[in-house]
Amino acid sequence: MPTNNNLPPAPEGTPVIRCRDLVVAYGSLVAVNGLTLDILRGECFGLLGPNGAGKTTAVEVFEGLLRPRTGTLEILGETWGRSDAGDRRLRQRLGVALQETHFPENLTVFEIIRLFRSFYRGGREINDLIALMGLEEKRNARVGKLSGGQRQRLALTCALVGAPEIIFLDEPTTGLDPQARLTIWQAVEALVRDGCTVVLTTHYMEEAARLCQRVGIIDSGRLIALDSPAGLVRTLGAGEIVEFKMEGEFPLESVRRIPGVHRAEKRDRQWILMVNDSAQTLPGILNTLSAQGMRVDSVSTHQATLEDVFVQLTGKGLGDE
Ligand SMILES: Nc1ncnc2c1ncn2[C@@H]1O[C@H](COP(=O)(O)OP(=O)(O)OP(=O)(O)O)[C@@H](O)[C@H]1O
Ligand SMILES: [Mg+2]
Repeated sequence: MPTNNNLPPAPEGTPVIRCRDLVVAYGSLVAVNGLTLDILRGECFGLLGPNGAGKTTAVEVFEGLLRPRTGTLEILGETWGRSDAGDRRLRQRLGVALQETHFPENLTVFEIIRLFRSFYRGGREINDLIALMGLEEKRNARVGKLSGGQRQRLALTCALVGAPEIIFLDEPTTGLDPQARLTIWQAVEALVRDGCTVVLTTHYMEEAARLCQRVGIIDSGRLIALDSPAGLVRTLGAGEIVEFKMEGEFPLESVRRIPGVHRAEKRDRQWILMVNDSAQTLPGILNTLSAQGMRVDSVSTHQATLEDVFVQLTGKGLGDE
């Protein structure tokens, strides 16, 4: 069976999504390029990547909204497109919140949720969900009058209303303030505690690190790393990052030889050094550079994060195109 390069073996557990060598293209643009992945029952799985990486495309194939050009996909043991009845059965078991949802503006929050509830044979109590998502005050408000954060919460509520086994959340917190983000994070955590499998996409490394048991990093349609957030950070081989700016030329190799520096990279004027202990290593770095007449400014240090993993793997930041 083909596997992605440099990826650890899949952990134990029952896969609820199994995809092999998925290729999805829009005309000549290959948006997902050979995705092989198992998502396990009960995990919160994150697809992390920059704009245009192929996250939405991949998730829309899982949701049955797009057909892959090649490759195979099994979801809850079923395959999209075998029969209308099979597809309808599968839809009953999934919850979907798209990256952008356009609800009818003249319906109220309650009416929208009731409408979505009617699509499912089973499901959750509408009033409980409204309370869970903090939408009580907006119960009778028209959707056209909701803020961005309230709309996102409504989209999540509609995805939850059928008590799905797998829920797909495409950038559930993009553009939200910290309080609205926290409400959504807590709702996702409650879902996972209840045994629901969550597949989410995000640009936010802290969201992936907080919510996800495993994260797949996707760039230009390819899965380039897959592990727990802590496992991914461990691949850096150093726990802290020192960043600074420096005028003039200085050989990268010389910086790499400074004791305590595990790795060093340069992006424009920005130097990025991976170290085990910045308090111990920083004086040596500054001394070495100033002894050579180099002027260093805007020095900062931080604990290594998924963003650093992403930069290390791709040479660009999560915010870059
Ligand atoms: N309907 C479409 N027709 C043509 N190209 C598309 C279409 N949808 C997406 N693409 C292209 O496919 C690539 C992957 O897009 P996709 O929306 O899957 O990325 P993404 O990772 O979800 O990005 P974002 O973080 O911005 O949501 C991009 O180059 C995008 O321009
Ligand atoms: Mg997207």
